[in-house]
Amino acid sequence: MKIILILITLVSTITGHAREAISGSRYELLTGVRRGGDSSKGFWDKKYARTNYIYGKAPAKFLAKNYDFIPQGSKIIDIGMGEGRNAVFLASKGYKVSGIDISSVAIKKARMLAREFGVRIETIHKSIADYKVPKNSVDAIVCFYFVDREVVKKLKSWLKPGGILIFESFTIKQKVINKIKEDDIYLLGEGELFKLFSDFNVLKYEQASHRKDFIASIIVQKPR
Ligand SMILES: C[S@@+](CC[C@H](N)C(=O)[O-])C[C@H]1O[C@@H](n2cnc3c(N)ncnc32)[C@H](O)[C@@H]1O
Repeated sequence: MKIILILITLVSTITGHAREAISGSRYELLTGVRRGGDSSKGFWDKKYARTNYIYGKAPAKFLAKNYDFIPQGSKIIDIGMGEGRNAVFLASKGYKVSGIDISSVAIKKARMLAREFGVRIETIHKSIADYKVPKNSVDAIVCFYFVDREVVKKLKSWLKPGGILIFESFTIKQKVINKIKEDDIYLLGEGELFKLFSDFNVLKYEQASHRKDFIASIIVQKPR
């Protein structure tokens, strides 16, 4: 019950973000990941059941500003794609995009969004836990508001040398905003993103404190 309350609080944050573009509580995503399997899928299916786009249709601002760090012609995987706001945006910029999500409702909404914007995306309805990708094979990865440190290790191994990864999520300071007392594990620590990618080349790092929400965003390149 506590977890559900946390999630509801976070959804309102996400909705707040939706005012500008989106935001989501990684908490949700994260909590979903922690519970794993069907319960996670059920949680997200329910969350996405409403007809509107809970994270909005516009891409995350950091992605909209910085997508061109990803070379044209790249194939991009969107991890925890959700309703497709980022995948569809990237497809509209000419990239080949595959989005993976555990929620069938999210996948359906992402396809609808792609149709609305007249672009093609590949959708993969799977848990990231069951998604197998050869090492050093992926041009680029985007991961927005899905914090699972074990998954981060996988993403790093999947990238080709020289490949680009763009990652964004809430930091621990967000707890104050959302009056959350627990579950730090799903929020990024101060400077944590930087450390998580200390073996990669950091091309850009932002820990925003000029917005209503506390977010850390990073663009990294796998060493060649
Ligand atoms: C907070 S939402 C973020 C959605 C999207 N990245 C965005 O920024 O709009 C987290 C997403 O991760 C998905 N998710 C949760 N656990 C997952 C898992 N194990 N495998 C794949 N997707 C998962 C959820 O269905 C949800 O769409």
